[in-house]
Amino acid sequence: MATMESLIGLVNRIQRACTVLGDYGGGEAALPTLWEALPSVVVVGGQSSGKSSVLESIVGRDFLPRGSGIVTRRPLVLQLQKTEQGPQDYAEFLHLPKKRFTDFSMVRKEIQDETDRLTGKSKQISPVPIHLSIYSPNVVNLTLIDLPGLTKVAVEGQPESIVQDIENMVRSYVEKPNCIILAITPANQDVATSDAIKIAREVDPSGERTFGVLTKLDLMDRGTNALDVLEGRSYRLQHPWVGTVNRSQADINKNVNMIAARQREREFFATSPDYGRLTSKMGSEYLAKLLSKHLESAIKSRIPGIALLINRSIDELEAELDHLGRPVPIDAGAQLYTILELCRIFDQIFKEHLDGGRPGGDR
Ligand code: GDP
Ligand code: NA
Ligand code: MG
Repeated sequence: MATMESLIGLVNRIQRACTVLGDYGGGEAALPTLWEALPSVVVVGGQSSGKSSVLESIVGRDFLPRGSGIVTRRPLVLQLQKTEQGPQDYAEFLHLPKKRFTDFSMVRKEIQDETDRLTGKSKQISPVPIHLSIYSPNVVNLTLIDLPGLTKVAVEGQPESIVQDIENMVRSYVEKPNCIILAITPANQDVATSDAIKIAREVDPSGERTFGVLTKLDLMDRGTNALDVLEGRSYRLQHPWVGTVNRSQADINKNVNMIAARQREREFFATSPDYGRLTSKMGSEYLAKLLSKHLESAIKSRIPGIALLINRSIDELEAELDHLGRPVPIDAGAQLYTILELCRIFDQIFKEHLDGGRPGGDR
């Protein structure tokens, strides 16, 4: 277990180093396939489907920019790291190393400012991710990537192309076979028209790497329920659907805090006449645990493939460093060293893992 927990952290460190080098999904690649080979969970859904609410609920914190229109305009790579009981939760951005945020309203402001820094006031989107790490004893080890919401019309003076630009960006992530898709679908809308399910169906027709999340269960019409979706009859996935109830806009306006919101979500399922037998497999906390477990096993199952790639990357990195002539004083060189180091640590863990996992050896 300890090893697997550190694997999620290590994968994230490699992804961070790749971002600094410009090698991320859809970007100009220094190591074209390394990021792609690392499993990650990507949050996909239409605008206002409840993506931010699900993410905040998984974290147990209020920290994401909100508002109407396209609020998320750069991918946000959110790494949750479980710590031992500590004095305080804190957050750190990759672009602001050594600055610890303990006030989460400042995290929200920094995400907004850093988004604007690249996209200006143009309201355009950018594929360059923002990396945010949150350390807390109350989170599970998990990395989630938040993407701009799928939309059908450009607003607020945005170029017409934004609709297609967003879809292309989302597709560039979800089409990768190692991408775990968190498909956010509001319960007060037909699943067949869910933007998330539409794109998931296209890139993952068998539903083996898609997790369906049904939000806004409290907003369904009286006398109706979501059992057809939650029990997989409306749209079948290999993994069970998870229903959630997050804060309404009125709750947010009234400053209902996350602890109270989670409590209310638990009560919703515990007291609902419809979801009784599903209660233990519903809600944001269950979703967080489910995803963390799945991400661990996804990394684990890809170890041999990633190990091959890492070995190739080590060769490439060494060649690149030779080409630059070491030692390299420039930033890129330092990042290459970082990745090289991380790859070596990773490689070591793979070997230990494989040795440990195959007592008799089956090669
Ligand atoms: P995003 O655009 O996909 O990130 O969606 P948000 O998380 O910002 O949610 C859009 C709106 O729906 C906000 O006003 C939320 O308060 C509201 N909302 C989200 N989830 C729920 C839910 O489960 N129940 C209710 N009643 N409102 C929700
Ligand atoms: Na949205
Ligand atoms: Mg949002």
